[in-house]
Amino acid sequence: MRRKTLNYIYLDNAATTQMAPEVIDVIMDAEARYYANASSSHVLGREAATELEKARRLLSEYLDADDYHLIFTSGGTESDNLALAGIIGMQAKRRGVMLSSVTEHQAVSHCLAALAGPGRNHHELGVDSNGLVCLKSVEAALRKPTLILSVHAVNNETGVVQPVEEITKLARRKSVISHTDAVQALGKVTFSARKLGADLISLSGHKIHGPKGVGLLLVRKGINLSPIMLGGGQERGKRSGTVNLPAIIGLTKAVELLGSGNKLNVISSMRDSLEKNILTRLPHAVVNGAGASRCAAITNILIPFVNDNYLHARLANSALCVSSGSACASHKQEPSRVLLAMGLSNHDARASLRFSLSRFTTKADLRAAADILFEAVDPFI
Ligand SMILES: Cc1ncc(COP(=O)(O)O)c(C=O)c1O
Repeated sequence: MRRKTLNYIYLDNAATTQMAPEVIDVIMDAEARYYANASSSHVLGREAATELEKARRLLSEYLDADDYHLIFTSGGTESDNLALAGIIGMQAKRRGVMLSSVTEHQAVSHCLAALAGPGRNHHELGVDSNGLVCLKSVEAALRKPTLILSVHAVNNETGVVQPVEEITKLARRKSVISHTDAVQALGKVTFSARKLGADLISLSGHKIHGPKGVGLLLVRKGINLSPIMLGGGQERGKRSGTVNLPAIIGLTKAVELLGSGNKLNVISSMRDSLEKNILTRLPHAVVNGAGASRCAAITNILIPFVNDNYLHARLANSALCVSSGSACASHKQEPSRVLLAMGLSNHDARASLRFSLSRFTTKADLRAAADILFEAVDPFI
């Protein structure tokens, strides 16, 4: 049985999710059975290696990733860093631009900023008021010698879905290697690595009711990258370190449980009803990115005319668990870079809240969330 955290309404699933009971079960079983090092040549090591390769095969099938090598990492941050630093490491002597969007997660933007140096600039593509990267601006930017193009698939703060398929096609036409951070796409849109088409794709376990501390980098076969962690040469030499087999088995289970698009339809209709409820009771509220295609599970809502500090203080002391901006940045109290890039003022960016659902969210959770929000905003209406 899934353990309900009594009296709390958890709508921060874009930050992380509760592990599914089935995932906990397979991890516990694997911890007991497959404790040997998958690189050891003895019988228990070989058994662990067999399970590791079984997980890799299953994931490749679930993710429609036949064209890719799957590298297990410690999560989305490491996958992004390995993809970007790994590709730049292979082109150390080339001059050119590293392109990304201005609304990337810090795992991409900070990494590219750190990789910039003489002859190697980091250029961030702007977004429109819906948070979308414009294909024409990608095309124009690609006229300069480009070392890598990285645009995320689904935004972690707004749920806006970027046109990654088209973006990667533009990159391929120019023979530029493309990367997409798809950490928020898996489980929130119908996922196919083949359709996304990027040369490198980052994924993470803990956003999909899987374990924390495990992720994947999909690397198109034929693309080479230099490792960022050196050591025993695991993962075809691309990611040294003893693999965390129980977590990998848990990740595989979590991906298996994502199942069909029906679950996504249920989540998106719940998201729609939450938005409707909030907009009916707070008619000045605005859904950020509403004009773009958005994933099922995330909505970002601006509550204008409130004192943002007051709103956050009220919510922080309530039973409602939501975020303003991304979890990594929310403790900084700075307005969201994503919302500022979409044209919101500092105040409006701070007065925006992210509600993120999962398949564990109930209609009762959403009714209670709207009630708590309404109560917090009450003094201003
Ligand atoms: C879009 C995106 N990329 C990368 C990450 C980092 O993933 P992890 O927490 O697995 O390192 C996150 C997590 O919030 C994310 O939302």
